[in-house]
Amino acid sequence: MRKIVIAIDGYSSCGKSTTAKAVAAELGYAYIDTGAMYRAVTLYLLEHKIAFDNLPRIEQALHELHISFKRNRRTGRNELCLDGEIREDEIRQMYISNSVSEVSVIPAVRHAMVSQQQRMGRKRGVVMDGRDIGTTVFPDAEVKVFMTAETRVRALRRQEELAVNGEHVEVEAIIDNLTKRDHIDSTRTESPLRRAADAVLLDTTHITIDEQVDFVLERVSATL
Ligand code: C5P
Repeated sequence: MRKIVIAIDGYSSCGKSTTAKAVAAELGYAYIDTGAMYRAVTLYLLEHKIAFDNLPRIEQALHELHISFKRNRRTGRNELCLDGEIREDEIRQMYISNSVSEVSVIPAVRHAMVSQQQRMGRKRGVVMDGRDIGTTVFPDAEVKVFMTAETRVRALRRQEELAVNGEHVEVEAIIDNLTKRDHIDSTRTESPLRRAADAVLLDTTHITIDEQVDFVLERVSATL
């Protein structure tokens, strides 16, 4: 059967990655979490004390750093590696969430990440989630879904994820972070977060993960 690209974009914490992961597992496709890549660049800049306005140093850093994904055989989870080391837990922490959108607006960062993502998906057979997959990374993706959900519902879901990771954060602080990130992500000049004209809208406020997965799989069946 022909292999396609499935692009899942949308606001923060709408369930994009949970849905994308399950769809990829169902189809035997690769799953690429592009948000993890922007989080990894942020971690690198913070650890190397590189200011977000030091563009020459950032460009150098983009040549130095190496981002990859490694499958954890025990959990089946795709884990983010920065310079060969698994950094999955760190990149999910709140201090990274609080800076990642500032890093994601930097054109050099976007160019580097978009080209890597295009290379990773060039053989197709991938589910990619992010903010600009259907508009910029793979504008020719065969299936495009744009996810949204009410802010409080998203914040409560994120709070649960953070708690699993051992971090306890007030829901109001999460709402603040999601709102700020969505604003920065939607208003940047370089590949802003927006729904592609041919993306189908999926509001996940009142539906279960299984329903989200079925929704995407139905779009895939209709395409193949
Ligand atoms: O998906 P996640 O919430 O982990 O993404 C973290 C941040 O990475 C987003 O808020 C956004 O600033 C950035 N991002 C992006 N483009 C993507 C994926 C994520 O700018 N394709």
